[in-house]
Amino acid sequence: MKICVLSRVAPEAIERLAQAGDVRVWTEPGPIPRDRLVAWIADADAVMTMLTDRVDRDLLKHAGRLKIAANMAVGYDNLDVEAATEAGVMVTNTPDVLTEATAELAWALMLAVMRNVVGAREAMLRGEWTHWSPDGFLGTELHGKTLGIVGFGRIGRAVARRAEAFGMRVIALGRQAPYQPPYVDRATFLREADVVSLHVPLSPATRGMVDRAWLAAMRPGSYLINTARGGIVDETALLEALDGHLGGAGLDVFAVEPVGGDHPLVRHPKVVATPHIGSATRETRRAMALRAADNILAALAGRRPPDLLNPVVWERRAARRHDA
Ligand code: DGY
Repeated sequence: MKICVLSRVAPEAIERLAQAGDVRVWTEPGPIPRDRLVAWIADADAVMTMLTDRVDRDLLKHAGRLKIAANMAVGYDNLDVEAATEAGVMVTNTPDVLTEATAELAWALMLAVMRNVVGAREAMLRGEWTHWSPDGFLGTELHGKTLGIVGFGRIGRAVARRAEAFGMRVIALGRQAPYQPPYVDRATFLREADVVSLHVPLSPATRGMVDRAWLAAMRPGSYLINTARGGIVDETALLEALDGHLGGAGLDVFAVEPVGGDHPLVRHPKVVATPHIGSATRETRRAMALRAADNILAALAGRRPPDLLNPVVWERRAARRHDA
């Protein structure tokens, strides 16, 4: 069996995979270039992809014997699941293991942007802390505010759980009536949330969802936190809203990544930005690599991968095994 791992990952994951076959790891800095990926995929039985690797119809044409593409991420908008299904390739992600780390980062951004942590630090570095003053470095108190969660799934709920400790009320954006608490309809959600935190995957339904109309309907002085995917937000409209009524934004993700220090959102005084580090803890990155490895090992051993996203491929394979 030939297994490709498209980045350096936890050594334990590589060791685990080595029990099932020859493991080839892309160890150079940055994502594997497309032409190398095309060459690698040609004789691979399994590939562990990163969110920076695009697995599309065109790549899959070169995949002669690929059984599984195991994404080391919970989001899988970099993989064309439909094309993989047609090509008979199983696709998996890594849910659960990064839930708490991502929820922590959403809170880190919320606290940093609302309490002006970064702005105050930068002012200190410029030597501007000349005296204590009643109106110096003011932020917005979280306590008593309403936190609005978009996407009340694993990560959204983990963010919500922490709200009680901060004395915040939680509402969630409901998809359809009847709305049971904490779900509310969109108009109520945007009218009442002091902070909106995004936890939906990027899909055709969510791309550009936070558009000009959405932002205009947010409360004056309210905050947007995005640890999900940049493509959910219309960045031009967000910049306009930040120049206007929005209190600020905490952004871990961008429509096109990576972005430089000169990106207008990164430089905006009302923004705290981080470089897609939602899952970036040692513990979580190790767990993600092991989870992706386990998905590969299952597929190669003829077992159903635990995080299978296109079960129809598995069912077709199982039926063929049964007939044989
Ligand atoms: C994911 O897993 O989708 C995250 O964005 C990675 O940090």
